[in-house]
Amino acid sequence: MNLQTLEEDVKALAEEGVRQARAADCAEAVERVRVALLGRKSALTSRMKELGALPAADKPRAGAILNAARKALEDAIAAREAELTAQAMGHALQTEIFDMTLPGRPMGQGRYHPIGMVLDELIEIFTGLGFAVEEGPEVETDAYNFQMLNFPDEHPARDMQDTFYVQNGARLLRTHTSPVQIHAMLRRAPPLSIIAPGRVFRCDSDVTHSPVFHQVEGFHVDRNVNFGHLKGTLELFVHRLYGPKTKIRLRPSFFPFTEPSAEVDVSCMFCGGAGCRVCKNSGWLEILGAGMIDPNVLKSVNLDPERWTGFAFGCGIERIAMLKYGIDDIRLLFENDPRFLERF
Ligand code: PHE
Repeated sequence: MNLQTLEEDVKALAEEGVRQARAADCAEAVERVRVALLGRKSALTSRMKELGALPAADKPRAGAILNAARKALEDAIAAREAELTAQAMGHALQTEIFDMTLPGRPMGQGRYHPIGMVLDELIEIFTGLGFAVEEGPEVETDAYNFQMLNFPDEHPARDMQDTFYVQNGARLLRTHTSPVQIHAMLRRAPPLSIIAPGRVFRCDSDVTHSPVFHQVEGFHVDRNVNFGHLKGTLELFVHRLYGPKTKIRLRPSFFPFTEPSAEVDVSCMFCGGAGCRVCKNSGWLEILGAGMIDPNVLKSVNLDPERWTGFAFGCGIERIAMLKYGIDDIRLLFENDPRFLERF
């Protein structure tokens, strides 16, 4: 076959192919046309296979003719495809209900829980003062939760009303973080400066009491630790937490594991001490319990009270969070209602 005939044949082939492509009326039809025109069994492909049999001098020209035809067919198919897609989209836009003015769906975003925020703040303050963070078990024995902390056997805090007992009384859910003092002092020799944040459990529930809540225990054991160190530490702490104008007041109190013991008040951060609804017109708010570690506690962990002394304090995180954020019902902190959490 001479080149001229080839050129005419292929041209006719291409023109017919382009017509078919344009006539395809759906995506499937376009695909059928593609297979018929460009597939392995198509006329064009068999022409390409014949290329090898042509005289060398004719090959470049013949190749160019065939490639041009192939290109023309590919373009026509692609163009038809694009046309059909656009048509389908236009049709969908007209027939499907698609309100572009609707707002997008909001992405749910997690928040820090107020308890977590207060905990982080306390940890930040105390690690800045050289305290290390330590944790203890939530399930304890009577020995750690009470006995080694110098609770007499008949002490009312052991009463079933306050303490959750498990395993038929063999274990209990710790009622405070003070047992971490015992764990730490048994594990390591002083000097010790530790804060122990964690969950504690008491059988009690109303607007200011939750059966599970959080405490941070702090304690420091060394040579010659005295009450002044305790007061100075607490003062620094409340100044960092509530601002340098905050005053503290220590009232004598009692805990089995400290002697002397104190309840610690801070000047009311709502009225600056003038008296308001939150502080019940007293100007003061109680935020923690503290004292010098009782010699009996030191003895129970084999430390000589003549050589070592220490102070300890414990505060409730929920109470601090409620005061800080003006929350009046403790249960809000445990319901995990996103509308409440979003306020922070
Ligand atoms: N453990 C005490 C409580 O839960 C708080 C406290 C800790 C008091 C350390 C004094 C010293 O009420």
